Amino acid sequence: MSRFTLVLPALFLFAPVLPAQQAATSTPATPKAPTYAAIPVEAVRTPNPVKSSPESLARAKRWWTLDCAMCHGKDGNGKGETAQDMKLTIADFTDDATLKDRTDGEIFYIIKNGHQDMPPEGPRVKTEENWDLVNYVRSLAKTKPAADQKPQ
Ligand code: HEC
Repeated sequence: MSRFTLVLPALFLFAPVLPAQQAATSTPATPKAPTYAAIPVEAVRTPNPVKSSPESLARAKRWWTLDCAMCHGKDGNGKGETAQDMKLTIADFTDDATLKDRTDGEIFYIIKNGHQDMPPEGPRVKTEENWDLVNYVRSLAKTKPAADQKPQ
């Protein structure tokens, strides 16, 4: 009896150590689903210096038509011809929930650097025009809670 009372607590003492070690060695092998986690924090937090104005949207529309619409669709529904040819599944920007949790900085970064099947805009557009595109992408949502800044 007295042996058990000693051995049992000893087991409990060591038990938590093993799973902890396992977890430590297995984390790099099981990365989370490929989200946009690689976007640097400073990029995520960069505020948009270009106000969304009719001028900004007009500048962006030119690039959208040239570089984006073939995949994202003219209206941003994600069903552009190239996307269909490449069998890409693209989020619907006309749904305001799609980009709700993205900061402007994140969207800027994705446009600039591309992501998986999306090619980078890179130096094709000036920095200001890249922000115009952020404004444009946001403007595609049919209802725009973020733009109104109304408390919900
Ligand atoms: C070759 C097709 C293609 C082109 C061209 C393209 N995209 Fe994309 N885009 C995609 C795909 C596919 C994704 C989803 C990427 C992923 O899942 O990693 C995406 C994702 C995005 C996202 C992020 C959406 C989210 O879920 O947060 C934004 C914003 C975006 N694109 C904007 C643009 C803009 C602006 C342009 C033009 C400058 C453009 N894209 C050009 C295919 C394209």
